[in-house]
Amino acid sequence: MAFNYISAAEAASLIKHGYNIGLSGFTPAGTAKAVTAELAKIAEAEHAKGNPFQIGIFTGASTGDSCDGVLSRAKAIRYRAPYTTNSDFRKAVNSGEIAYNDIHLSQMAQEVRYGFMGKVNIAIIEACEVTPDGKIYLTAAGGIAPTVCRLADQIIVELNAAHSKSAMGLHDVYEPLDPPYRREIPIYKPSDRIGQPYIQVDPKKIVGIVETNWPDEARGFADADPLTDKIGQNVADFLAADMKRGIIPSTFLPLQSGVGNIANAVLGALGRDKTIPAFEMYTEVIQNSVIGLIRDGRVKFGSACSLTVTNDCLQGIYDDMDFFRDKLVLRPSEISNNPEVVRRLGVISINTAIEADLYGNVNSTHIGGTKMMNGIGGSGDFTRNAYISIFTCPSVAKEGKISAIVPMVSHHDHTEHDVNIIITEQGVADLRGKSPKERAQAIIENCVHPDYKNILWDYLKLTDGKSQTPQAARAALAMHAELAKSGNMQNVDWAQYK
Ligand code: COA
Repeated sequence: MAFNYISAAEAASLIKHGYNIGLSGFTPAGTAKAVTAELAKIAEAEHAKGNPFQIGIFTGASTGDSCDGVLSRAKAIRYRAPYTTNSDFRKAVNSGEIAYNDIHLSQMAQEVRYGFMGKVNIAIIEACEVTPDGKIYLTAAGGIAPTVCRLADQIIVELNAAHSKSAMGLHDVYEPLDPPYRREIPIYKPSDRIGQPYIQVDPKKIVGIVETNWPDEARGFADADPLTDKIGQNVADFLAADMKRGIIPSTFLPLQSGVGNIANAVLGALGRDKTIPAFEMYTEVIQNSVIGLIRDGRVKFGSACSLTVTNDCLQGIYDDMDFFRDKLVLRPSEISNNPEVVRRLGVISINTAIEADLYGNVNSTHIGGTKMMNGIGGSGDFTRNAYISIFTCPSVAKEGKISAIVPMVSHHDHTEHDVNIIITEQGVADLRGKSPKERAQAIIENCVHPDYKNILWDYLKLTDGKSQTPQAARAALAMHAELAKSGNMQNVDWAQYK
């Protein structure tokens, strides 16, 4: 079939007020860019005329500025799910302008299929190749692209020359059936492939192809610093010790690691620790550090949803695809993060917390219990099902005015039932096999910053000390209240709660 080649502006004009659009991509990797950038201009023009113009966005995870950024600034987003990292989007969410549904990333595709979020009108899919018979070859991420392609009335393809055609073959596209017909996901090791390297669509649904040359809007990483290095080293030492005492098999287990600088530091430390054998990753994002470890032979295989790497690193992968082809696979997010597979493979999960409490509950998403930071991402998909679930964070934030360990988290994302290990630069609290009271001792002794140890011991003295989970109801959020009042949790005065 001969396709209709159109401009990004023409493609954007197909999207009407009230539509829901489904996007390819996961993080800025593989996200459609050109059409959403033009859509923002349409929204601004309509608003200037006094007309309403807002859409719903369904995507895999965060996107780049050419989607969440421009559309938030243009006030063009009514609803969006799931995860995002864009600061303008965050401001709009926290000022009540956007309805944001922060769900587990593995659930996004199926919740769209189940009809929980409404119809997908148009899918916008970034591709490195599309064939006349409707085979779409994705770029640097799987996301929810197969599902939105199937459900959407119309598909727009952004054929992006910034992604090499050597990306063809990286993907393993598989969409499970919905209940009551769903079967097991037949992945028994991270490198198993169970689907096709492309998305098959009815070519008649492709209403336009937009040719672009627009690199992924990848974020760089801060240089390693002593704090993140220490956290990374603590994680590596903990895992090496658990392997030595036989809790982790000597062949090691697949790792999942979150995004950001701590994750990079953790992987750096694991790569250097030669007591840990070369390992596999079953994770959602592959960052630069993993690519280095694959080149060094320290990571044997990486299964992920996206290559969230810098553009030079991505180009290096494309240029060296003969080497990487049997060492990497990209999957849709409902497979990369699938709870069934995570539990079967025995994945060790490593994610970052905003704060944790004395009993092991973790807040990954909200500042002060009310303001959205980014979202839960895949942290819950992995944590709840991991062989060992680990959370890392610095023991304090904002020059010590905030303790990351508090009596009670201000928002719950991961409960005490799911969190095994907490690691800060101070040390490691192993919560496995412990009662809540034992956990509180382990966390204060090993993870809390010295400036806050006595504050937290004194908090425990306000409780009855005997209940299953001792809390002093009036004082449980007093450190947060003190932060809001004086700007420093260290000023908390327990006397008023006695
Ligand atoms: N209270 C208030 N602010 C806090 C805080 C706390 N307890 N802890 C951290 N902060 C602030 C930091 O000071 C920083 O502020 P700034 O942006 O003004 O400098 C900000 O929060 C981010 O902290 P930082 O230490 O830079 O964290 P990060 O970039 O490593 O991100 C998360 C940490 C938790 C926000 C991030 O990992 C995330 O979004 N996680 C949830 C999703 C997830 O786990 N994904 C991976 C699954 S595969």
